[in-house]
Amino acid sequence: MKFFLDTADLDEIAEAASWGALAGVTTNPTLYARIGGKLADFNEHIKRICALVDGPVSAETTATTREKIVEEGRELAALAPNVVVKVPTTVEGLAATRTLADEGIHVNMTLCFSVPQALLAARAGAAYISPFVGRFDDISEDGIEQLDNIVSALAGYDFAPCGPAGKEVEVIAASIRSANHVTQAALLGADIATVPFNVLKKCVEHPLTTNGLAAFEKDWEKVKNA
Ligand code: E4P
Repeated sequence: MKFFLDTADLDEIAEAASWGALAGVTTNPTLYARIGGKLADFNEHIKRICALVDGPVSAETTATTREKIVEEGRELAALAPNVVVKVPTTVEGLAATRTLADEGIHVNMTLCFSVPQALLAARAGAAYISPFVGRFDDISEDGIEQLDNIVSALAGYDFAPCGPAGKEVEVIAASIRSANHVTQAALLGADIATVPFNVLKKCVEHPLTTNGLAAFEKDWEKVKNA
């Protein structure tokens, strides 16, 4: 499973990229608003993210009609070669995805909450599908079980190669809230997990690693003073 960072914060992206294991970034309007982003700066901001990351960067459309989504999608895709156009899983989003995919533009269908939505997104030519895990948990449903259903359903069929390097559709486990979510997503075969920076840090940390390192450091002092 690959790791994407779910943020629009340039410092977080630069820091995570420096760790050497980051495969991409996902953003959305909320994440851009959270960093105080302004509409006029949006395209430049996406370009900056694309320059920091060696991998796909999802930039979300905000239009609600297929024509406008396609228009926005073309504009976003022209910003950098690694832009992936993020489109909500709606009727208008599906139609726009078909058009964009036929033009060779990579689409990440987002706000996906069901197997039928995921199958339709894949049939419409999405390169990525983003089932949201945490938002199910927020309403006392099991987000990991829903993700499992989607991964299993997609695995039973062949889809047109609409992703980068001719890849079939990839599942991005999204709305990830904990390292445990990451573990579960990996075990059930999600291709990618997109995680907030605080969760990525928690994925690296383990108390046994911290304690083990402290013991090694203490013992090495003994060796140096022997
Ligand atoms: C996915 O691409 C979304 O940006 C994100 O994972 C949503 O997560 P949230 O439910 O924490 O807002």
